[in-house]
Amino acid sequence: MRKFFIAGNWKMNKGLESAMSLSNKINEYAENESKIDIGVFPPYIYLQGMKNTFKNIIIGSQNIFFKQEGAYTGEISPKMLDSIDVEWTIIGHSERRNIFNESEEWVNKKVKFALNNHMKAIVCIGEKLEERKKGYTLEKISMQVKNLFYEISKEKAKNITLAYEPIWAIGTGETASPEDADEVHEKIREVVSNIYDSDFAEKLRIQYGGSVKPHNAEELLKKDNIDGALIGGASLEADSFLKICDIAKKLQ
Ligand code: 13P
Repeated sequence: MRKFFIAGNWKMNKGLESAMSLSNKINEYAENESKIDIGVFPPYIYLQGMKNTFKNIIIGSQNIFFKQEGAYTGEISPKMLDSIDVEWTIIGHSERRNIFNESEEWVNKKVKFALNNHMKAIVCIGEKLEERKKGYTLEKISMQVKNLFYEISKEKAKNITLAYEPIWAIGTGETASPEDADEVHEKIREVVSNIYDSDFAEKLRIQYGGSVKPHNAEELLKKDNIDGALIGGASLEADSFLKICDIAKKLQ
């Protein structure tokens, strides 16, 4: 059985004091935790401090660039993250794709660059509301999956976790129904199985993201193809984030 992976994407939130207070609470909770994987993806400036404090938690950046150094104002490279022992990153979040115009090609370049530089990545995919309304969800998701894995060997692809985040469910309080989410996750596994093989697809972890809260987490996580959650809003408070971790622990 795949191990649940519950991750908090803090996005552009929290000042130092509040970031440290939240991370201390998560740290305490996770200290002796081995049933599930717990991850935190804070803003860059907190990574080093958290890396030094955290023992049993996956820490990662919310983005990387596909160059190691140079004149790329505002960007962060795998090499820089490696220098503070951070080996995880999120790639292709819909906010990166839509607000910062990151293309399918860029997402693939970033995935390749991260994996070639010994990183592990949560790669996000998801459809817009218009696409869902037009019945285009599964096609869109299949296209994104094929593009993100383009020219990536199976060995390297083992370092990827996928996150299905329907864009219309992010930060809106609307969640995909557990059935709809599971249908998409099943489709993802089928596409991945055609790219690599069924054994790879069986082992791949696919998180769901989009208004995951303590009140809906259980129904989502109970679904066969949902292997965890990528959480925005509810990861900003210890109480809600750890309640979701508790639910995952119970179901594991
Ligand atoms: P919310 O949980 O706030 O909807 O955000 C989901 C998300 O985008 C996580 O990456």
